[in-house]
Amino acid sequence: MIGGSFTFCDRAEDTVRWHKLCMDRYNSNMFNEKRLKSSLPVEALGEPLYFYKTVASTNDRAQALAQEGAVHGTLVVADEQTAGRGRFRRSWSTPPRSALALSLILRPEDITQVALARMNMLGALAVVESLGALGLEARIKWPNDVIISGGKVAGVLTEGSWMGEDLEYAVLGIGVNVSPKSVPDRRDVAYPAACVEGGLEGKVSRIRLLVDILERIGSWLNMLDSKQIYSAFEGVLAFRGQPVKISGSDMELTGVLQGLTPNCRLRIALAAGEVILLGGEDMQIRPVDMDRDWATLN
Ligand code: BTN
Repeated sequence: MIGGSFTFCDRAEDTVRWHKLCMDRYNSNMFNEKRLKSSLPVEALGEPLYFYKTVASTNDRAQALAQEGAVHGTLVVADEQTAGRGRFRRSWSTPPRSALALSLILRPEDITQVALARMNMLGALAVVESLGALGLEARIKWPNDVIISGGKVAGVLTEGSWMGEDLEYAVLGIGVNVSPKSVPDRRDVAYPAACVEGGLEGKVSRIRLLVDILERIGSWLNMLDSKQIYSAFEGVLAFRGQPVKISGSDMELTGVLQGLTPNCRLRIALAAGEVILLGGEDMQIRPVDMDRDWATLN
């Protein structure tokens, strides 16, 4: 009899624990404006917030807002994108309840050429660091893709508007594949794709990840001219010391990736021993031996 009541008590505790677990999981998966707003702004980023359940492209929305005068730090977030864009006019898929899609309007003052070049890699660096904090080793595949051992987990699309020589605003767009549902079909992507949860055990809170990424962007943003950010980029650059193939619209070459210059161009050692510097909107890099080197990251 007494034993029976103990059993009952144990079960009740289990039920409470199970209920709490379900609630934690439910809450951490909730991705809505109210929850997001309660964690923002961070480092003066994320206010005002424009949250959409569905939008064509957060970058398009942010560009329109910037043209209407939206302030530095304005953030556009969507649960789903129906016409997300990537580099090289590729499409970027963001199915509902599975990924992060955000675009940040930045209006840095008196930005130098070096700082501008670095701004392009900033989003990727922030994502790499946030994944690192979750225990996931990630690297930047130049200039602004984020890869883990299974493939690409995030991409960054930076778009700027110029007034002559001056940068009027930049839109920093970041897409992260969080759950397996967000991973596009192999046939639809140029590189193998992966997701954050695939490299970890358990669910990842999109809100916590988003806030962490913003915090990191905010703190690096004040250090764009520093040596530290340059070493941080180089420290997480994928394929360093490995043979890589660089291709652009009118060239293709092979060499060993040595590292970066301070303004984020690639240092490539050619077979003859010469070291050349390469950078450009239309360039892409991949390991010469995709099958062997893809998974090793560095
Ligand atoms: C790439 O890998 O080519 C860059 C992908 C960038 C995708 C993000 S998702 C949020 C923002 N909105 C877009 O339409 N694109 C960027």
